[in-house]
Amino acid sequence: MTSKQLKGPVVLLEDMPDRWQRLRQAGPVRYEESQGVWQVLDYANVAAVLADPATYSSDLSSLAPTQEDFETFRQGNFVGMDPPEHRRLRALVSQAFTPRVVQGLAPRIEALCAQLLDAVADRDRFDLVDALAYPLPIIVIAELLGVPPEEHRLFQEWASVLFGGDLLGESPDMADLERALEAIAPTIREMNGYVLGHIRNRRAHPGDDLTSQLIAAEVDGVRLEDQQIVGFVALLLVAGHVTTTALLGNAVVTFDRYSGTDAALRADPDRLPLAIEEVLRWLPPFPELGRRVTRPVVLGGHELPADTLVMVHLGAANRDPARFEAPEVFDVTRHPNPHLTFGHGIHFCFGAPLARLEARIALRMLQERFRSVAVPSYEDVTYQNPAAIVAVRQLPVEVVR
Ligand code: HEM
Repeated sequence: MTSKQLKGPVVLLEDMPDRWQRLRQAGPVRYEESQGVWQVLDYANVAAVLADPATYSSDLSSLAPTQEDFETFRQGNFVGMDPPEHRRLRALVSQAFTPRVVQGLAPRIEALCAQLLDAVADRDRFDLVDALAYPLPIIVIAELLGVPPEEHRLFQEWASVLFGGDLLGESPDMADLERALEAIAPTIREMNGYVLGHIRNRRAHPGDDLTSQLIAAEVDGVRLEDQQIVGFVALLLVAGHVTTTALLGNAVVTFDRYSGTDAALRADPDRLPLAIEEVLRWLPPFPELGRRVTRPVVLGGHELPADTLVMVHLGAANRDPARFEAPEVFDVTRHPNPHLTFGHGIHFCFGAPLARLEARIALRMLQERFRSVAVPSYEDVTYQNPAAIVAVRQLPVEVVR
């Protein structure tokens, strides 16, 4: 579909690609003087940075503000670690979170989607984020961890505070980050206490949930410490919740926006997986990732000194004409689609199979339940802070049964 077939005005989701394009026009690698940051915008260099953790470290702690409570979460939070710790922790957690475990969740995800949509069965208009996109991934994570249903609410509360989009300005500086960390400290303490209690409970009464399996997982005779499990749970909440919410919301908006998409997918439901990949390419929920340069290096003809921050732009890379044919066309049949939305290299998203599974089940169920799902007014659609995540916050939809 071309942009000529666009329906209705959209504020943010069309602005982001323009921003990425503008940034890329200034060159594939450029220094942002005002922020003291190197920006990497083309596909080849973004992939090269992500594939070289020895030169581009994921441990940004020396560049970011610290907060005592937050330190407890750094253990087990392997997205911010380098080899060899990263490899060991990811291997341990992978034992518990296997493709079979993820595939086994399908019936439960279907039941949850049905239950969430039943709750709006008597309404022709509802907020798709509130009704489905927000609660689904958080309940899936809470259930996976063996958290009892009456306590799922706690996970929802923590996720919304931890994610902290509201605490940051549009271009946050160090002082904003420090304030944000300060503000979430009480939530971190509460969550830490709860998850430690849950781990102790599972240690005494193991079940078949992920927490029990994390307790039992072992690599080279070494097991996870309790505090590492807490850090991993925090990582799941931050990395696995809002991103999946974003994917679901972005898919519904994009399918509505590019007229004909919804009808094409209904005519041939087997196309849905490719369409989801295109939504991921089009609007990556985390459009930027940070890395710290560990040693002087030449990238894109520039000399980058050690200890500087590099931001790789997944959103810009996903629209690089050197890698994608007609990158500015939203094409639900695009194949292959080597987008970088789940990252690349050793930190490639650990939950990608789960995110894809949830999206397939939820979007298919929306099509089965409703003859149409439309966004009646884009004026009523609101967005998350784009400095934190590319996603809708409120998405009022009108359905026809
Ligand atoms: C890593 C995106 C869903 C868990 C990542 C990374 C990206 C990403 C870009 C790489 C970060 C880096 O290199 O610094 C996404 C998107 C999602 C999604 C766009 C949904 C559309 C999930 C889900 C889970 C999850 C559902 C778990 C339930 C993780 C974990 C890592 C990760 C644990 C760290 C992997 C590592 O460092 O080795 N994700 N994610 N993600 N993601 Fe996801």
